[in-house]
Amino acid sequence: MKPRILQNGRLMPALETALAGEFDLHPLWREADPKAYLAQHGGEFVGLATSARVGADAALIAALPALKVIGNFGVGYDTIDIDAAKNRGIAVSNTPDVLTDCVADLAFGLLIDVARGLSASDRFLRRGDWLRGAFPLQTRVSGKRLGIVGLGRIGRTIAKRASGFDMDVHYHNRRPAADTPFVYERSLIELARWADFLVVASAGGPETRHLISAEVIAALGADGFLINIARGTVVDEQALVDALVNKRIAGAALDVFEKEPHVPEALLGLDNAVLMPHIASGTHETRQAMADLTLANLRSFFRDGRLLTPIA
Ligand code: 8YV
Repeated sequence: MKPRILQNGRLMPALETALAGEFDLHPLWREADPKAYLAQHGGEFVGLATSARVGADAALIAALPALKVIGNFGVGYDTIDIDAAKNRGIAVSNTPDVLTDCVADLAFGLLIDVARGLSASDRFLRRGDWLRGAFPLQTRVSGKRLGIVGLGRIGRTIAKRASGFDMDVHYHNRRPAADTPFVYERSLIELARWADFLVVASAGGPETRHLISAEVIAALGADGFLINIARGTVVDEQALVDALVNKRIAGAALDVFEKEPHVPEALLGLDNAVLMPHIASGTHETRQAMADLTLANLRSFFRDGRLLTPIA
């Protein structure tokens, strides 16, 4: 008998098809009344396939008393109640490594965009403003100071990209990272004060909530730029909006927001903000690799009880 797996939220069509081919898959999102469905059938499921977008909260985990494994499509698992899973001995996998390059690429794309005004100059041209004058001068990227908040896999790869732009890289972590030539800065405020560009590449969740506070934004200062490809919750979004509106920082490039897909109205009209709909891992190649790894984890778990990429 195939293991019975519950699917929370939509997944890539190719992944949904592959999961349905190997497992007895039931899409919860198709149920008109998911709560009532779970009350009746929750005990049938041994696996849960979900994504970083919708995760699995404590209520969902509690509604699945036979659950043994959660396969998460995404590296971030801040939307999964890890304590609830751990307390029950439920194994959880994510999709690290396969998306690192694409996320780092987009971080750098955003950095160049916000510094040089790529999106803003595109809008300028389309509005016909070029016919009336030149686009205002922008900010140089090469040779500048890059501060990275969170030197994990993605942070390190962003630092590697920066070497091609002769940038000086410092970073902030809870603890200094081993095997890295980059300068560790214990104080996030000091890192922000030093940096021309501050890139957020940390994990989400309660531990990093509003790490980029009003004080950090103030320390970045009127010539500083903030780039966030991590989670919207890491930044105090209201403080950031205030700083952007009042030009207390030079600009921000954001792939993530506190209440996705809702973006603060005040940001929409700002030319010093580059806004992306959470697309950092969104390439055909990377999303396919994430789908393959999600499937491989579940397959491996039901074969011999081992996950290929269990969460740390
Ligand atoms: C995913 C992400 O696109 O991996 C993550 O943590 O945020 C993105 O890569 C998205 O969460 C998929 O649901």
